[in-house]
Amino acid sequence: MTLLSIAGGIVDDSALSSMASNASTRKTFIDSSITIGGPYNFHGLDLDWEFSSTTTDMSNLVFRSLSYPAEAMENNLDWITVMAFDIGAPTWKPNLTEAPAALYNPFSEVSGDSEISSWIRAGFPARKIVFGLPYYGYAWKLKDANNHGFLAPANGADITADGALGYTHIRNRIIGQGGAITAFNYTFASDYCYNGTTWVGYDDVKSILAKILYAKGKGLLGYFTWRVGLDDNWTLSKTV
Ligand SMILES: *[C@@H]1O[C@H](CO)[C@@H](O)[C@H](O)[C@H]1NC(C)=O
Ligand SMILES: *[C@@H]1O[C@H](CO)[C@@H](O)[C@H](O)[C@H]1NC(C)=O
Ligand SMILES: *[C@@H]1O[C@H](CO)[C@@H](O)[C@H](O)[C@H]1NC(C)=O
Ligand SMILES: *[C@@H]1O[C@H](CO)[C@@H](O)[C@H](O)[C@H]1NC(C)=O
Ligand SMILES: *[C@@H]1O[C@H](CO)[C@@H](O)[C@H](O)[C@H]1NC(C)=O
Repeated sequence: MTLLSIAGGIVDDSALSSMASNASTRKTFIDSSITIGGPYNFHGLDLDWEFSSTTTDMSNLVFRSLSYPAEAMENNLDWITVMAFDIGAPTWKPNLTEAPAALYNPFSEVSGDSEISSWIRAGFPARKIVFGLPYYGYAWKLKDANNHGFLAPANGADITADGALGYTHIRNRIIGQGGAITAFNYTFASDYCYNGTTWVGYDDVKSILAKILYAKGKGLLGYFTWRVGLDDNWTLSKTV
């Protein structure tokens, strides 16, 4: 199945907001999506609006209040993809190491499980939810090399400007070089590794397995990943 995907994380969401605010520009968007997608036989359109945030955007997207209009979405969409990642990252959580894509988090209101549960509580059917798996993680710089769990004191990002590292990079250039210690924390269902003051929270085989079991247990439609090209020799995809 191939979808035409429009917008994404680095698109100015005011452009989408402005398009959606007017019936005439909405129609132009719909017609031009069909014109572009039609000849290629795409199966559908992935509207990657990150994120419609105002009441007006929400009502233009479908209707009603500031929370997503679950019922109208159920009636109009084949599925939604829940980006259950980028929950903790050094850019917005510089001072403590975090599970970037925790399945569970007893220390915070936000986790993969809380996101999925809130959709289901809002009445959106589990069988139309697709669970997002990140093939990347984030590196923090530890304050103290000997304090290296989750929620350990840190000084922002390490290795790259925002700390983001693809799975292949983590496997081959941090763990594969020797010296790094890998660990899994069952409270968050999250993997991490560290070497000296470099600390990386990411999804490895154990996190991915926990999430797939979770998705099956909840009766979700399936999973998606951002992004398959970051996998290391298909390790994570084969796990799935
Ligand atoms: C909607 O967009 C069309 C085309 O750009 C424009 O002519 C029209 O004035 C707009 N309507 C409103 C209410 O802004
Ligand atoms: C991180 O720590 C610095 C220095 O103590 C502080 O100024 C800042 O507000 C903290 N940031 C967050 C997001 O807590
Ligand atoms: C996971 O990390 C948290 C925070 O550091 C800690 O309190 C908890 O004991 C750890 N859980 C396991 C099972 O190691
Ligand atoms: C691990 O840390 C040691 C000491 O800082 C360093 O020499 C080594 O290069 C590091 N290994 C990796 C894979 O970063
Ligand atoms: C990739 O995985 C296959 C088995 O799944 C293995 O035979 C092959 O050697 C691996 N390649 C690398 C570069 O690790």
